[in-house]
Amino acid sequence: MTDYSKLLIADQGQKAHSILLLDQAHFQEWLLTQPQKIRDLLDAQSFKAGPFEIAIINDEDSWSVVYGMSDINNPSPWCLAGATAKLPSAHYRISIYGQENQDLKNTALGWLLSHYSFDSYRSKTPPKAQHILLSTDVAMIDEIVKQATAIALVRDMVNTPPIDMGPNNIEKQCAKIAKKHKAEFSVIRGDALETGYPLIHAVGMAAMREHAPRLIEMEWGDKNHPRIAIIGKGISFDTGGLDIKSAAGMRLMKKDMGGAAHALALADLIMASRLPVRLHMLIPSAENSVSAHALRPGDVVKSRKGMRVEIHNTDAEGRLVLADAFTKAAELEPELMINFATLTGAARVALGPDLPAFFCNDDDMAQAMRKAGQDHYDPVWQLPLWHEYNDMLTSDIADISNAGGSFAGAITAALFLQNFVEDGIKWGHFDTFAWAPTARPGRPKGGEALGLRAAYHFLTQQYAAR
Ligand code: BES
Ligand code: ZN
Ligand code: ZN
Repeated sequence: MTDYSKLLIADQGQKAHSILLLDQAHFQEWLLTQPQKIRDLLDAQSFKAGPFEIAIINDEDSWSVVYGMSDINNPSPWCLAGATAKLPSAHYRISIYGQENQDLKNTALGWLLSHYSFDSYRSKTPPKAQHILLSTDVAMIDEIVKQATAIALVRDMVNTPPIDMGPNNIEKQCAKIAKKHKAEFSVIRGDALETGYPLIHAVGMAAMREHAPRLIEMEWGDKNHPRIAIIGKGISFDTGGLDIKSAAGMRLMKKDMGGAAHALALADLIMASRLPVRLHMLIPSAENSVSAHALRPGDVVKSRKGMRVEIHNTDAEGRLVLADAFTKAAELEPELMINFATLTGAARVALGPDLPAFFCNDDDMAQAMRKAGQDHYDPVWQLPLWHEYNDMLTSDIADISNAGGSFAGAITAALFLQNFVEDGIKWGHFDTFAWAPTARPGRPKGGEALGLRAAYHFLTQQYAAR
């Protein structure tokens, strides 16, 4: 993995090329301050300070960069991320036109992430340019390196082929992070799940021998601090089970552990920030496979909570593994639970790949989460827990069915989960895509963290100031 701490370092007056960020609204004003030689140079490069436009100008004995963005008062992480691809390896120093107290957090994050690539499976990797950014804000450096590293962890885990990212590998990734922060770590594997976690066991039955299912748990922090649970769907590959997916529907299902990757990355951020909480991370992990041992449509499984679930569709497996993990989390009485899951295709139909659907049982929490997402350029979109649709989950023979009819698939999935959230617990559920279908500057095609920074900043605001 790229070591982002080498790409964002303290500014100690090193020799560096400066990058001036400009927008069209300020371009003429700035141009007036420039000598004719520079104006001609910009003219020759057709530079007008439009978004993503770049020009090189001469300094006395070196060169510097001017870069256009849409609004210098509102720098998103992605506005400068396209610049590195056009610049050689060197040290750089950014300034925003006319601003004294420059907030370069977002810009620096995009800068770092523009160096992300997933090359572990290529025989030859082309040499990559290293653009080192200098910053006088030392606290910002640690914070942004931490965030970039967490996002890269999500991308790497999701991009890794399923043969190398089974439940066993997910466990190893978690163990590594637990060790780094000296967190308590425990795992219940395989048939040992049958009594305590029957739904996780049921989803994992088909691949029990080859890729044993498991519940991975981590606990960290002072027991007197408020307890929170972070939970992630860790389906290492989703074939659909006996309700098997089409080839096209299955093609990207290595990313069905994306929720687990988000949960782990969020846990890493919480622990690295030493947020004053008692953290409980839970990742139910299984491969949803096909075999003579597979769970069948029509089977009924008694959940950890005692509620009996009729399996209407084996492809609605994420909510099953999450349900038992929720029950375990709730037994320890957290005040707040947040989960991430690549739960439904319906959420993608509704909101497309960029926007995670966010469901929440508490209005203040929902508002704060949306604001955190908006403020940090990690937008989330709230959908309703519309209780009347609970009827769609009625089973003919058991307490509940794991899938409803053909309407409101993201909402019925969330309502299913809500049955396993006990009263008094604030709960937020991200139905996220964990994937970027097309490449954009700083955001290559492939695994992507969506909702991670919204949740992180939300938690920081809720707990850091207490
Ligand atoms: N992992 C899928 C959801 C998914 C599909 C996410 C495509 C992103 C892209 C999940 O396990 C699933 O298959 N859900 C079904 C539920 C249905 C059977 C009720 C779905 O969304 O079609
Ligand atoms: Zn599925
Ligand atoms: Zn799935």
